Formats: sequence, C-alpha cells, structure tokens
Amino acid sequence: MNTGEIKDFITTQEWSRDELEEILKLAEDLKEKQQKKIPHRLLEGKTLYMLFYNSSLRTRNSFETGIFQLGGQGIYLSPTAVYRPAMADEEIPYVTERISDVARVLSRYGHAISIRIYGDVVNWIYGRGNRIVREFAKWADIPVINMEDDMFHPCQAMADVLTIREKLGTLEGKKVAVSWAYSGGIKPVAVPQSCVLNFTRFGADVVLAHPKGLELDPNIIELAKKNASESGGSFEISYSMDEAFEGADVIYPKSWGSLEFMPPKVPKVDKTGMLELMNKHKDWITTAEKLDLCAKNVIYMHCLPADRGMEVTDEVIDGPHSVVFDEAENRLHVQKAIMVYLMKDL
Ligand code: CP
Repeated sequence: MNTGEIKDFITTQEWSRDELEEILKLAEDLKEKQQKKIPHRLLEGKTLYMLFYNSSLRTRNSFETGIFQLGGQGIYLSPTAVYRPAMADEEIPYVTERISDVARVLSRYGHAISIRIYGDVVNWIYGRGNRIVREFAKWADIPVINMEDDMFHPCQAMADVLTIREKLGTLEGKKVAVSWAYSGGIKPVAVPQSCVLNFTRFGADVVLAHPKGLELDPNIIELAKKNASESGGSFEISYSMDEAFEGADVIYPKSWGSLEFMPPKVPKVDKTGMLELMNKHKDWITTAEKLDLCAKNVIYMHCLPADRGMEVTDEVIDGPHSVVFDEAENRLHVQKAIMVYLMKDL
C-alpha cells in the first residue's frame, strides 16, 4: 500500500509550483535531447502499465513512445469494467479482479501504473473516475499517473503550459480564454478543469466562458480563484465566447458536458436533456471572424480530438494561429519528464 513516500500525479493541484517547474524544465531538456538525437535512456529496465478503460490516440501513443525512448517498456492494458450501479468504487473490476488486487500485483512487477477512466465506464457519475484512480493509488506501492479521469487531465494541462511558454514566453500577463464549444457529443470536464487550475498557477489572466448550465465544478472554480490570487494572475467567468476572446493572447475552445445532467446532481445521467441544452448553442464555434476579436498574434489551442465543423472550422484549426500539433507533440516531452521524475529512483 502507498505509504506516502511514493508520489502520484493525479492533479497538478497536489504538486507545488516548484515541482511543476522542475517537470517543465526536465521536459524542455528531454525535448532538446530528442531533437538532437542524444540518447536519454533514464528509465532503462523500468515498466509502465497503462490501463485504458477509454480509447485514446495521443495519450496512449505518447506514453508508450515516451517510455520506449527512455529505455523502458510500456504495457497496454485494456480492462473491461463490468459495471453494475450497486458496485462500490473499490469493486469496479479489472476484468474479474478488484482494484486492490490489481494494484498490488502490478506493484510487484513494474514501476508505475497509469489510468484513463471516465464517461460511460462510470455511468457519468461525476467524480467516480477520480475516486477509482485514487483507489489504485491507495493500494499501489508504485506511482499512479492520471491519464484523464472525469475531473482532471493533468498531463494535458502541463503540455499546454509548455506550449504557451514556447509560443509566448510566459503565461504571466497573458489573457487566456478557456471556452466551451459546441460538438454534438458529450465529453468530460477534465480538460477545462485542469486547464483553469494550471493556467492560474502560472500567473495567467484566465477567462472561462460557457453558456449557462455548463458550469464547471464549483470547488474547481474556488481553487482557480485562489491560484490566481496567489500567482498574481486573475480568473473571471463570462457567458459570452466573444467577450472572452476580446484581446485574448490564447484561446482554448473545446466542448464539455453539463454537470447539471450527471449524478450526483441527478439520480441518473440524462444525456437527452444535456444534448438539448448543448444544441441551443451551436454558434459556440471558433471561426476566422472570431479570431479577429483576439490579439493579433493569438494562438488557438485544442487538446484534440477536435470536432471539425462544430467546435472549430478547418480554416482556424489548420490556419497560422493554430498550435494544436505542437501541443500534441508536447504531451510526449512532458510525460517523459513526469515518468522520469516519478520512476527514476525506484
Ligand atoms: N488529448 C487527449 O488526451 O487525446 P486522446 O484522447 O487521443 O488521448
């Protein structure tokens, strides 16, 4: 069982600014080594187990490629969660075994466990995916890395800070608009929540924009306000995409689902009600006209996958302001840094 000396990466909020800076510096160093073809096999003989309850392109391939480049081995596991509503969190199975057994077995073999879990797997019960990640951490003797649960996507938010710094030098004094966008589907709140938490840690002036009914978790909003007041940045909420984009240095418009239609707010997820609400806001799409509202050298960010034609036009995502592929690349470098930080001394 995790006794405290093993560190987990479940949300950036549980890491100090100094620790996050150390990760970013290491990521820059590893990126340079990769580009110059300098070997950096810092995790020779180390194994990462990657448990994907949900599908992935970027997260799976950047972790698996990353651990390989570091001289270690990544093992992809696709657990089948046979979900029954009456199950307690700790009973959510990995095929047939409880988390407590899986975590203790893998701890005897390897050096870190990473997990992705949200959405239908946990019946959209907000917070349950995060509790399951923490259940793994409770039983594992090796670090647990959150590859996106239903509250946080910390690796994405760290790659995003690295990308903004590369493009603009700093987050301090920069207006960053994290906005809801229409997509026609239901996505978790993990990315916007991790983004507002992390961008406010680094001194940005963050504006969160969404239609009414698509609010983020009020606890996250309180933390974002606290982060901003401690870092010298600011945090505001707007109900207008145009207002949020006005003069923005960074825009990060993406879709997320409404917590109003998910448990614990309602007894059972109401996807029909949620889609009815979201379908009223099809005009929340990033177009070239909307870019004209922003600062001249604005960067357009998206964690991907993006729903083209709904969240954003091809013209914008493939245009000169878009940094989405640099952002996707930085997942590799940041996650290599996180793995080295957590696993090198094990
Ligand atoms: N941004 C992100 O996490 O992408 P994947 O869902 O492809 O992993």
